[in-house]
Amino acid sequence: MQYIPPSTFRGHDIEPLLANRGLTADWFTTDDFDPHSTANVARVTYGETAAKIPFHYRSARTTLPQLRTWIERLVADAKTAQAQRGAPIASITHGPSLLLLGVTGVGKTYEAYGALRELAVTGVYGQWAVTTAADLYAALRPRHGVDSEVEFARYRNARLLLVDDLGADRKPTEFTEEINFRLINHRYENHLPTLLTSNVGPKELAARLGDRVTSRLAEMCERISLKGDDRRRAA
Ligand SMILES: Nc1ncnc2c1ncn2[C@@H]1O[C@H](COP(=O)(O)OP(=O)(O)OP(=O)(O)O)[C@@H](O)[C@H]1O
Ligand SMILES: [Mg+2]
Repeated sequence: MQYIPPSTFRGHDIEPLLANRGLTADWFTTDDFDPHSTANVARVTYGETAAKIPFHYRSARTTLPQLRTWIERLVADAKTAQAQRGAPIASITHGPSLLLLGVTGVGKTYEAYGALRELAVTGVYGQWAVTTAADLYAALRPRHGVDSEVEFARYRNARLLLVDDLGADRKPTEFTEEINFRLINHRYENHLPTLLTSNVGPKELAARLGDRVTSRLAEMCERISLKGDDRRRAA
């Protein structure tokens, strides 16, 4: 683990995340020069994670108990694996997945990025790949000079993966169907923790993603339905 000197991450509103775990900003910023200390692991993980969070969601916090339970499960599993292997730090490698469902503007992306932030300060290392489904398809379209299989492997093999807005394309194509299946199947078979969001209703989701993808999602994911109105219009 790389050692990084203490940083307060000013502007990230990190204190409430720490307080939630009974930790203080002092703990986060105490310089112990130990690359394997949980504080250093948290600094490295938070720094890497924050770089992947869009500005709008930079201080998001999850409000969903199920998301918190998921985080604690990932953390506990990582610590158990660390103890078994005698590894110097705990890292997330395997675990369950989550599917956040709800209408436009109800807070799915906010909750997802909130979860990334909460997980980042636990002192357990977790490396995220983050994308919307639409950006993923765009990044993987065959084009000159880009090996899309190398690009695909980045997402398929990511230790933790957020796919926002799955099923948003009204007319799935053979190409998007193949990406969805290969991605979900790989993550399903290898128990790779994946956070998915979709604003498509459960029944429609099956129609858009196909039976084989929805069947795998049903087994690998806990499903959370967010209720409420479009918060953007309420603002
Ligand atoms: N718990 C919350 N506290 C404060 N603001 C919130 C909360 N949840 C969502 N918001 C805000 O509400 C707006 C809509 O949230 P978000 O972008 O997460 O919606 P969404 O469900 O992902 O919508 P879409 O389906 O269109 O992508 C955003 O401005 C977000 O910051
Ligand atoms: Mg969203």
